[in-house]
Amino acid sequence: MNLLQISKQSIMKRRHLKYVVCACVLVYIYNFFGVSDYLYAKSFDNDFDYPLNVDIKSIVNDVLAGKKVAVTPINYYPYRFLTNSGKCSTTDNLDLFIVVKSAMDHFGHRDAIRKTYGRENVPGRTVKTLFFLGIDSEPKSDLQKEIDREMAKYKDIIQMDFIDSYFNNTVKTMMSFRWLFEHCAAADYYLFTDDDMYISVNNLLAYIHDREATRIPNAKRLPHETTTIGPKDYLFTGYVFKSAPQRFKSSKWRVSFEEYPWDKWPAYITAGAYVVSNKAMKDMYVASLFVKHFRFDDIYLGIVAKKIGITPRHCPDFHFYKKPFSSEGYLNVIASHGYGNHEELLRVWNEMNDFVSS
Ligand SMILES: *[C@@H]1O[C@H](CO)[C@@H](O)[C@H](O)[C@H]1NC(C)=O
Repeated sequence: MNLLQISKQSIMKRRHLKYVVCACVLVYIYNFFGVSDYLYAKSFDNDFDYPLNVDIKSIVNDVLAGKKVAVTPINYYPYRFLTNSGKCSTTDNLDLFIVVKSAMDHFGHRDAIRKTYGRENVPGRTVKTLFFLGIDSEPKSDLQKEIDREMAKYKDIIQMDFIDSYFNNTVKTMMSFRWLFEHCAAADYYLFTDDDMYISVNNLLAYIHDREATRIPNAKRLPHETTTIGPKDYLFTGYVFKSAPQRFKSSKWRVSFEEYPWDKWPAYITAGAYVVSNKAMKDMYVASLFVKHFRFDDIYLGIVAKKIGITPRHCPDFHFYKKPFSSEGYLNVIASHGYGNHEELLRVWNEMNDFVSS
């Protein structure tokens, strides 16, 4: 073997190695990014047939009209309400009812909310606030005892008997809808919020009022909207997202093909804060009994809304990304994410309250 042959051979080997490495990288990328899931995903625009694939809108109308329906519900969560509160009845008319989805150990958050946007004294309006919680795996835990004391003191907690964990979020949301439907069905509007949000009830009521006062011109109207706008029409508003499922194998948010085979999500409102009108609350709750469970609550509501023809309406005064605070900057803010620190919520809310009334 001469020198030339040896170097030729090693070049060949190296080339060979290169191909192997390339192939490995490609296979890795293919798997890591879930490429096949992207390639074979069904078209959302053409083939969206999330179960039940029936005319849910007409089922909802029949159920609400007290008629018998031939289709059996597929999605009734088998949980109970462990507490109740005298705060709401099905006949008292409220302007706004606030549902705060709260984590069990967030005592400080709830206290801050009671002192700020949950304090229920809005001049000329009736606003009520309740906190919705699940339970611990251990029945008489110290945490539960503390919640019992909190409940006895404030009577503003609805506790439900499922484990309060992240992937029971949809259960929490839809059980809250059930509570509203069964116990508090006469509010004009409902705000759903997490306990780490900044909320301005005044700005929210002003937004609703302005909406009701303006007749939306034909060109700007969403397909389901009429010229008269109020609690008996559909409103489902907040920060609207239009995006696609995550297929990365390593992602916490990965959604498998089996779970959701379409290439896009329906338009959905990011959980955190959103508002539904009375009619939207009722129709979405009844519809949800006929729409297969999905573990992300905001996407689930997007699916339910799509099934009955409600188009989520984007409102730029709901901030999905925390809006940096300044009094002027917050003048029109209805909701902002990023208030996991409840001291900050107290400070910002009080500062805005003083700023607006000065
Ligand atoms: C949701 O709650 C149910 C009922 O308590 C429980 O059995 C289940 O493990 C919980 N799911 C998750 C994902 O935590």
